[in-house]
Amino acid sequence: MEAPLNWRKDSFLVSTNHSNLEPDAINKALGSDVIWWAESLSGNQLRTMLQNSLCFGLYKILEAPDGQDQMLQIGLARLITDYVTFCYLTDVYVLDEYQGKGLGSFLMECVNEYSNSLPSLRGLMLVTSSEQAQKWYMKLLGAKELETRAGHPVKALLKERES
Ligand SMILES: CC(C)(COP(=O)(O)OP(=O)(O)OC[C@H]1O[C@@H](n2cnc3c(N)ncnc32)[C@H](O)[C@@H]1OP(=O)(O)O)[C@@H](O)C(=O)NCCC(=O)NCCS
Repeated sequence: MEAPLNWRKDSFLVSTNHSNLEPDAINKALGSDVIWWAESLSGNQLRTMLQNSLCFGLYKILEAPDGQDQMLQIGLARLITDYVTFCYLTDVYVLDEYQGKGLGSFLMECVNEYSNSLPSLRGLMLVTSSEQAQKWYMKLLGAKELETRAGHPVKALLKERES
């Protein structure tokens, strides 16, 4: 993987730098209602998941008078990818108190810019049950419902964990 990418907007930053990630903040979100489709993980599971994903962390930059700015993780978009042909987008969230300010759209613009930069990308895929989210992803990523591929009708299949 090439050098980390960073995008700044006012006092917010989107960064793919792994060393910026706050695993405790992410795990808290995974266990909360904001990421209602997931659950919190053990420390090892969380580390493995983050290490093997391209994580777009969303941070609020807390400026300090001494120049030692601090960053607070307030959101995430996680790409599971081979960095060449395919990306699966998941765990997209912005903490409740920061929603509705354009930050989720900023995060998706960064994901979109990255995926557009992959010359041999076959697809970026995501699954969502929310109609509002579907429209949002269509608008910001140019994603479409998967109905045909190379002119043939297709169905997306998913095997879920057996409980
Ligand atoms: C979806 C989410 C990341 C958007 O972040 P945000 O910072 O509020 O987004 P913005 O302020 O840039 O824009 C809000 C847009 O998000 C859209 N949106 C998509 N899914 C949404 C959701 N589940 N809840 C609220 N708004 C949502 C709204 O329609 C709105 O669109 P508009 O700009 O055309 O009005 C945020 O609402 C969130 O974290 N929701 C909970 C987790 C979630 O549902 N993630 C997506 C699962 S597929």
